Amino acid sequence: MLKTLYVRQALKPEDAATLSGTAAWQSPSNIALVKYWGKHGHQLPNNPSVSLTLAEAFTRTQLLWSPKEGKTGRMLFRFHGQEEPSFAEKMKKFLESQAEVFPFLAAYDLEVESSNSFPHSSGIASSASSMSAFVLCLLDMEVRLSGQPPDEEAFSRKASWLARQASGSAARSLFPYASLWGQCDKVEGSSQETAIALTDLHPVFRTYRDSILIVHSGVKTVSSRAGHALMEGNPFAPARYAQAKANTVRLIGILKSGNLEDFVELVESEALQLHALMMASTPSFILMKPETLQIIEKLRQFRHESGLPLCFTLDAGPNVHLLYPDEIRTQVQEFIRTQLLPHCEDGQWIDDHVGKGPFRY
Ligand code: PMV
Repeated sequence: MLKTLYVRQALKPEDAATLSGTAAWQSPSNIALVKYWGKHGHQLPNNPSVSLTLAEAFTRTQLLWSPKEGKTGRMLFRFHGQEEPSFAEKMKKFLESQAEVFPFLAAYDLEVESSNSFPHSSGIASSASSMSAFVLCLLDMEVRLSGQPPDEEAFSRKASWLARQASGSAARSLFPYASLWGQCDKVEGSSQETAIALTDLHPVFRTYRDSILIVHSGVKTVSSRAGHALMEGNPFAPARYAQAKANTVRLIGILKSGNLEDFVELVESEALQLHALMMASTPSFILMKPETLQIIEKLRQFRHESGLPLCFTLDAGPNVHLLYPDEIRTQVQEFIRTQLLPHCEDGQWIDDHVGKGPFRY
């Protein structure tokens, strides 16, 4: 449905000016609270998901375009200054899949310079920040060539629609503070095809902290693509989708009210369900490391003794995200430094927090 709209509006090569130009965006990663795990069709989620937008874990991407010199357009991709033909190939494939939306690209050579704020091998998924930054640059190029200033909301939604097709969770990185992706009957404007901003938020969540503890760096044991596919034969899938839908509605209420006790319970349950699903897949995967469990146990003990509302969540890997309100930052970070960093690989962690979403730089 949205594709018809975007294709109808697409700028044709003959309309585009033939000048060179650049666009540059910084776009953050996001951390899912209700997890997206299982998809169908063209990157459509089997359940809605909710995330907090991060700030310090981001990708910066600059796109340079110039009238093409050869017969076919050239695509060059540099990551941290180093040419990466495999990334260029991936981006090229993505652009080919969007040829109807961006017909004007056929007239240009493209150069992409990209870098992450976090170590590439830290085990932190970079597809959300990198794909969202890349599509934002493309949309800026389109705006620049068409000479029509964008309606910011429509711009972000189109970016989310495009980012989703490159990497599902990237759809949620386009908005400030918190985002919902997937149809949710209780939320007007929610959609399977793009994420939306969750604007009715208790102020505590606008400055929420996410301390990312790197337990194990390096490539993931199971790629997201394989993980989503494993849900197809998972006997618990129908129950999981029902639960995720219910948790989405409940979490949206919690994000409004600021009830941190309920937040802690729901967020940890979501993280453990994601890992339980992987354990119950065929073949099965255990994505936690012993250190992951040691951190979780210490965290729960600390919460019990201190009464402080900190909790954990996990991606499809062993690293632990510690979530807590900014006002207890001093106590929690003291706990992290003294008790948890010994369980991290080379004592690595990323001190992140909720942020305002992508911006031009
Ligand atoms: O966007 P993908 O296809 O890499 O899937 C991400 C899945 C999780 O990170 C495990 C959960 C989520 O909702 O971000």
